Amino acid sequence: MEVPAILTIRFVNMGKSNSRYDIFGTLKKMDLAEAVRNVIRDRKTEKILADPQNPVEYTAEQLNSGDQIVKQAIRDSGWAPFHYDRRQDGLAEPWRAWWLNQTNCQKLAEKLPQLIPDLKPGNKMPGLLSGCGSLTLFTWLPQPNETGPESSKRERINREHLAATAAAVQNFLLLLTAEGIRNYWASGSLIQDYLFDTLKIPHEQVLAAAVFTHYPDPLTPVEVIAGKHRERRSPNTAWLQDVLIDP
Ligand SMILES: Cc1cc2nc3c(=O)[nH]c(=O)nc-3n(C[C@H](O)[C@H](O)[C@H](O)COP(=O)(O)O)c2cc1C
Repeated sequence: MEVPAILTIRFVNMGKSNSRYDIFGTLKKMDLAEAVRNVIRDRKTEKILADPQNPVEYTAEQLNSGDQIVKQAIRDSGWAPFHYDRRQDGLAEPWRAWWLNQTNCQKLAEKLPQLIPDLKPGNKMPGLLSGCGSLTLFTWLPQPNETGPESSKRERINREHLAATAAAVQNFLLLLTAEGIRNYWASGSLIQDYLFDTLKIPHEQVLAAAVFTHYPDPLTPVEVIAGKHRERRSPNTAWLQDVLIDP
């Protein structure tokens, strides 16, 4: 797959040339659609776990480059659509992103047994925190319950806040995929239930995604685990129906 560093659409010089690029070196419209389609199809869950005693290693250069790509992808993911102005802290967006670099992921892995006393021996969280290059948490902010009992309007607005946040998360995953950074979207229920205080995330926020990111060519060998539903997709678009209105 060929993905240029900068995907900008410029509708210039789209005429007879056979080149995939216009005179400015940017992708032509048809190739841009193909590139986006490829990235959507290439995105996949890839979990990498490491022994907390022997966490995954990268060179300082690899870490620095991976961190910069991830941070930029987080910023760009904020171009997701959102319906309602959440009006909190002067921000319209309903989502927030929290980022932990590798050092902080590994510190958190070390603290897990004391933070979660009933952590089950087979739980994957310590391994994931020890196997990643960084961790990004996307949370969303429910509407304050100012008007008394749950109103159906408030529920609908909250569904849309979550939907907007999920759009931002998918933007993030697609950018990571295009950049060659393996990723895994986990629900992170343990993070929500036990770790918000340690992470200094306000309890009014709700976790939508814990995205573990894996940088290219780690120095330690790693095992990559696929998502359990990857192969369960319908062979064709069985979930798509044309709607025909009766005369
Ligand atoms: C909202 C959401 C939460 C998820 N949480 C988990 C999770 O907690 N554990 C897990 O193994 N996979 C989780 N996944 C990843 C799915 O298992 C994965 O997307 C699915 O198996 C399809 O594989 P693919 O992503 O490679 O297409 C989650 C995905 C989404 C969208």
